Amino acid sequence: MNQPAPPFGVRIRGTGSCVPNRILTNDDLSKIMDTTDDWIFQRTGIRERRVCDPMTEGTFTMARDALKNALDAAEMKGSDLDLIIVGTVTAEMTCPSVAARVGAALGAVPAAAFDLSAACCGFVYSINLAQALIQSGQFRSIGVVGAEAMSSIVDYQDRTVSILFGDSAGAAVLTRDPDPRIGCLYQTMGSDGSGWSSLYLPRRPQEVPASDADNPIRLGNLRMNGKEVFRFAVTKFREVIEDAMIKTNLTAESVGQVVCHQSNVRIIEAAREKLGLPHEKVYINIDRFGNSSAGSVGLCLDQLWRAGKIEKERPFVMVAFGGGLTWASGVWRI
Ligand code: UT7
Repeated sequence: MNQPAPPFGVRIRGTGSCVPNRILTNDDLSKIMDTTDDWIFQRTGIRERRVCDPMTEGTFTMARDALKNALDAAEMKGSDLDLIIVGTVTAEMTCPSVAARVGAALGAVPAAAFDLSAACCGFVYSINLAQALIQSGQFRSIGVVGAEAMSSIVDYQDRTVSILFGDSAGAAVLTRDPDPRIGCLYQTMGSDGSGWSSLYLPRRPQEVPASDADNPIRLGNLRMNGKEVFRFAVTKFREVIEDAMIKTNLTAESVGQVVCHQSNVRIIEAAREKLGLPHEKVYINIDRFGNSSAGSVGLCLDQLWRAGKIEKERPFVMVAFGGGLTWASGVWRI
């Protein structure tokens, strides 16, 4: 998507995140299913992940707390927002949206609010959309959240999918800025729905294709053809980063952080090596937080931001792929 020069900029004014306190290690998993710490770490790079206490925590509480942290960092209040977008596929309820409840909890009434469904691309799709809405002149301040309680949609009786996922939320507050050089330099969002059945969550038996009928994972839980997703991702992920860098004239030397969806460390490493990016420009936290779908890019961004790793001089890239199948990128200057 090519963008005309904006009349003003879009500033990421603050970031925030939230993870549950409860830690689920690979060794914990090996007590309830036939797996080992070694197998999981070798195949995914994960040692442990965070999971919600289902009685007191979930997508709503994490999204609320992540956005509150981002508002505090931005020195703003909920009432300063005119829109909240929550990227998630694990909303507790299909109606109302998580975003509307977050808005009420943070005093953002009467800001507009909706959830956005793009699986692991939830945060990057949401922030891309938010910046475009600010650039359109319709909105001035938007709270963007990617939040996912994956533990609520994985079947812990099955070892093939459950080992990969964890729970988290990441958030950013975007505001209109008089400096047109600040903001999103380039963005892409894409999808190919023909690959939907390699990562899907059926609630009714009639949604299950014949090819997956023998899958032991119980209805209402995420199903994944790991090998197919891996094949798709290992090429697509690199292509999306490469496209973003080429379109903005960035090289491995000039680019800042490449903030990746934490899908599987092997997928991220394959892209990093092919593009000649040094380790210190590609942040990894999957070892501690697992793959938290829409939560992951916002969580990484917040951790990097607070560590002072998002530099003013170097544009940084956000990139994700996921169920749909979907993919997205954004290149930002702060
Ligand atoms: O966020 C976006 C979404 N998803 C992804 O990015 C996922 C992409 N895919 C992957 O990360 C990998 O496919 C997995 C990590 C999920 C699986 O790794 P894999 O190398 O594709 O393993 P596999 O499914 O081919 O299984 C290899 C073997 C099988 O045994 P046999 O048939 O060779 O005897 C599995 O039954 O490993 C067995 N296996 C396990 N063993 C121990 C499968 N899961 C486990 C497990 N522990 N948890």
